[in-house]
Amino acid sequence: MQLMCGLVQKYNVPGPRYTSYPTVPYWDINSFSGKKWNSSVLRAFQENPEEGISVYIHLPFCEHMCTFCGCHKRITKRHEVERPYITAVLKEWELYVDLLGSKPVIKELHLGGGTPTFFSPENLKILIEGIVRLSTKTDDIEFSFEGHPNNTTREHLQALYDVGFRRVCFGVQDYNLTVQRAINRIQPFENVKNVTDWAREIGYTSVGHDIIYGLPFQTCDDVENTIIKTNAIKPDRIAFYSYAHVPWLKGNGQRGYKEEDLPSSVEKKAQYEMGKRMLSEFGYKDVGMDHFALPTDSLYKALENGTLHRNFMGYTPSKTKLMVGLGASSISDSWYGFAQNVKNVEEYQNLVSHGVIPIFRGHILNEEDEILRRHILNIMCRFETSWSEEDEKSVDFDMVLDNLSELEKDGLVALDNQQIKVTDKGRPFVRNISMAFDLKLQRKKPDTRIFSMTV
Ligand SMILES: C[S@@+](CC[C@H](N)C(=O)[O-])C[C@H]1O[C@@H](n2cnc3c(N)ncnc32)[C@H](O)[C@@H]1O
Ligand code: SF4
Repeated sequence: MQLMCGLVQKYNVPGPRYTSYPTVPYWDINSFSGKKWNSSVLRAFQENPEEGISVYIHLPFCEHMCTFCGCHKRITKRHEVERPYITAVLKEWELYVDLLGSKPVIKELHLGGGTPTFFSPENLKILIEGIVRLSTKTDDIEFSFEGHPNNTTREHLQALYDVGFRRVCFGVQDYNLTVQRAINRIQPFENVKNVTDWAREIGYTSVGHDIIYGLPFQTCDDVENTIIKTNAIKPDRIAFYSYAHVPWLKGNGQRGYKEEDLPSSVEKKAQYEMGKRMLSEFGYKDVGMDHFALPTDSLYKALENGTLHRNFMGYTPSKTKLMVGLGASSISDSWYGFAQNVKNVEEYQNLVSHGVIPIFRGHILNEEDEILRRHILNIMCRFETSWSEEDEKSVDFDMVLDNLSELEKDGLVALDNQQIKVTDKGRPFVRNISMAFDLKLQRKKPDTRIFSMTV
């Protein structure tokens, strides 16, 4: 235990969560252009049109502000915002389909936010039908959405099921009332149980719950109690997130409590270790950095058959080269590049209504980026990677090995020639291990606080 405390103190540093490489703050925005972005999208699409594409739609509205939340959202009770927003998203989709030149095959579609269930079931149906009209669906399509247990109705679940959704994920966070008050999110167990039961009755094949450790005033007992309650409902998938404390990000709202109200890094690590142990006892398999799934769930199957992938949506069971992100603040990934939409809702709607794909920054990957991304993805998804002499010609692996040497001494990775494996002891430090391959970060450390702590 003492040894683990030492490691936690040593490795608890600010670090990326690697939903992309290069990470957003290291994008080369100066050499990026809309023209380069469009050709990277076309290239990814034309190389393998049968592979299909992923679509992420960001629905940014929430009625209430949860003070822990790091997502991009707008708090409003005015539901008149729904229609103009949906019109804009459908117009943006039309712009992309025009660019592609033919109806894309959609393999995966995810509604995230914000709160997708802020929108009425009718409006969500209009949105999805509009997207599907301009595309072809694959047989093994994965449609999923994030629902808030406090406002998801049976009608929401039924309407989305009717247009093809089979997976839903509900935000739970923690069941303790003191913690819920601190994060301004009062959410009784009954609400979560009801929405989960409804989803199953309707026919959803995968229900997920998001739980967080490291929240203000949260103790090990609270995490234990939350996991016991969660197990009583037995979701197919559990995201067990580390609370990302990033109050310096503008408009973020993580200021309703003090730094002293947060568990220390050692307490936080103990919460994680206990949660992980309990989830494994309850039959959940760990997948990647912070996900757990029943062996019957597609995420675990993806781990088993080597197709597990990580992108801006987090861990996903399949990889498509092209992921189109629609909506304010969404990030798209064309495999050869990334681009982010403007964050302001009015600006987003305005640009789209003028026929402009509303991106404001992006990055086109060079050869070194592509090689390093492959290794970081391998580590984040499979906990191991190996490289060739060919890789060594384009990337400074001496620098990578230098970065890995301390991690090896501490027993977090096992190095063998041109191969590394993350040890069991090293798994909680997978972000630190990925950082050894992040040469952009190693060459220039950020001048200000950008990333959350790795523990
Ligand atoms: C968009 S929300 C889920 C849908 C819905 N808005 C809700 O809250 O139920 C996505 C998830 O991100 C996670 N999340 C948000 N802010 C976070 C933070 N600061 N640290 C860790 N996880 C966070 C939460 O677990 C949350 O359920
Ligand atoms: S946690 Fe969900 S409901 Fe709460 S503010 Fe964030 S996105 Fe909105």
